[in-house]
Amino acid sequence: MEKVTMMIKARRLFKDISDLPTIPAIVSKVVTLLDNEEASPDDIADLMLSDQVLAARVIRVVNSPLYRSNSEISSVKRALLFIGFKSVREMILTSYFVDGFKQKEQPFDMKMFWMHSFSVGAISRRIATLVSYPDVEKAYLVGILHDIGKVFLGHYCNDEYGKMLNSIRNTSYTTYEAEYEFFGTTHCEVGLCLAQRWNFPSAYCDVISYHHSSEMATEDPLLTSIISLADFYCLSHGTSDSVAQASIPGVSEENAWKVFKQLAQDRLPSSLEHFLSDLDEEYENISHEVDLLFNTMTA
Ligand SMILES: [Fe+2]
Ligand SMILES: [Fe+2]
Repeated sequence: MEKVTMMIKARRLFKDISDLPTIPAIVSKVVTLLDNEEASPDDIADLMLSDQVLAARVIRVVNSPLYRSNSEISSVKRALLFIGFKSVREMILTSYFVDGFKQKEQPFDMKMFWMHSFSVGAISRRIATLVSYPDVEKAYLVGILHDIGKVFLGHYCNDEYGKMLNSIRNTSYTTYEAEYEFFGTTHCEVGLCLAQRWNFPSAYCDVISYHHSSEMATEDPLLTSIISLADFYCLSHGTSDSVAQASIPGVSEENAWKVFKQLAQDRLPSSLEHFLSDLDEEYENISHEVDLLFNTMTA
């Protein structure tokens, strides 16, 4: 089916929803300012301090075991300098997203969902480094957020989504294929609607929309390719929130590999298979970080 038709179906699902979690306007402003290379720590700290909830959240997370600071950090400006602008951007958006859906009932295990999301974030960061993507933290953040459409479908179409998951248990169907059969749209289009409502930057929207069809990405094809392969890697290594496991690279992954080869031919292994198996060491290292992130963000 055409993307346009799938988008129309996705938009319809949002029509009668009145309790959709929102990301405060101040958060979007801070994220935009953090992206501005000319912004000073004082400008950013001042803006963050205009929202006490946001300021308190940053202080709490920066003092959590995730960042391993030696002494207590009590000012927003010090927090910014300690973990860096880009990490703050990633931490703020992730924590608001996790919070927005924390209390919402789901037909799947939310811990599994977050473990998958955080693993995709960490593997995306590693791949971004390997292919010299210029903003590694951005790859990390959008890796964490890539499947947000599933959280929407799971909560707002709870019964139907539960039935769908049961119908593909012990089959080779993926959730992506099953969503299309059940809803005529998938978590990619639904995620895009959500990302647009939350004013996510356009490259993030593109990744959320095309991480299962990276060949269609237009905004930042390299970034979408990174997340597409990281997602495939994590799905085939068991941190999947879905019942079916990916095992054979599809069009999206083959395209991603082609994009990498064009860019960094001489620095990459000879085959996609080798490239993926080289990630195994990183995958073992990230499990502790993923646990910490999960505990900090969902506390
Ligand atoms: Fe996905
Ligand atoms: Fe995923």
